[in-house]
Amino acid sequence: MRLAILSTFALLGSLSLPSFAADPAALAREGAALIPPFAGQLLETVQSAMKEGGPTQAVEACQLLAPQIAEQHSQSPWQIGRTALKVRNPANAPDAWERQVLKQFAARAAAGEPLSEIKHAEIVDGEFRLMKAIPTGEACLACHGSAIKPELAAVIDQRYPDDQARGFALGDLRGAFSLRRTLD
Ligand code: HEC
Repeated sequence: MRLAILSTFALLGSLSLPSFAADPAALAREGAALIPPFAGQLLETVQSAMKEGGPTQAVEACQLLAPQIAEQHSQSPWQIGRTALKVRNPANAPDAWERQVLKQFAARAAAGEPLSEIKHAEIVDGEFRLMKAIPTGEACLACHGSAIKPELAAVIDQRYPDDQARGFALGDLRGAFSLRRTLD
């Protein structure tokens, strides 16, 4: 018991006793619950834009709406977004901690761990941070795969001149959801 308490403290690092209103497992569950509705709305938005106006309109919708959808699903004190080692929008580039977690995810995936189970939570500089792997699905290949239609590739090139987020295959690690919240 004593050992368990000590290790909880070790996990919480520099936090002082009154700070942990919730334990890390509860915070991880709270954060993880924000991911499915966020992912669902992103997919719905891209798919309905695709249906209405084809992939070009869907790229435009993504550019316009992805940041808004992230904002909308960031319920205080949580912030939610997406990142990847290879990004389309440089605004989604990982910070140092995210980069290291993404590399760890890639290594775990290469070692055979299913992407659907890969996640990581940690307290970093007084914030609770959580990441969850995003697999490349069938629905992603039109815009992130290796056979992007030339007219669509042209639109992507024009809007994202530094795009790195193509060439993915089904089942590849595409990136991760990344969440953070302050500890009060
Ligand atoms: C219609 C084209 C399109 C489809 C389909 C699409 N994406 Fe994207 N994706 C984009 C665009 C455009 C961006 C950049 C959005 C922005 O400006 O924030 C993006 C950004 C991302 C990012 C954020 C990191 C980055 O590269 O900037 C992730 C992660 C991502 N997409 C994953 C996926 C996944 C997973 C799927 C399939 C479920 C998917 N995308 C389907 C066009 C698409």
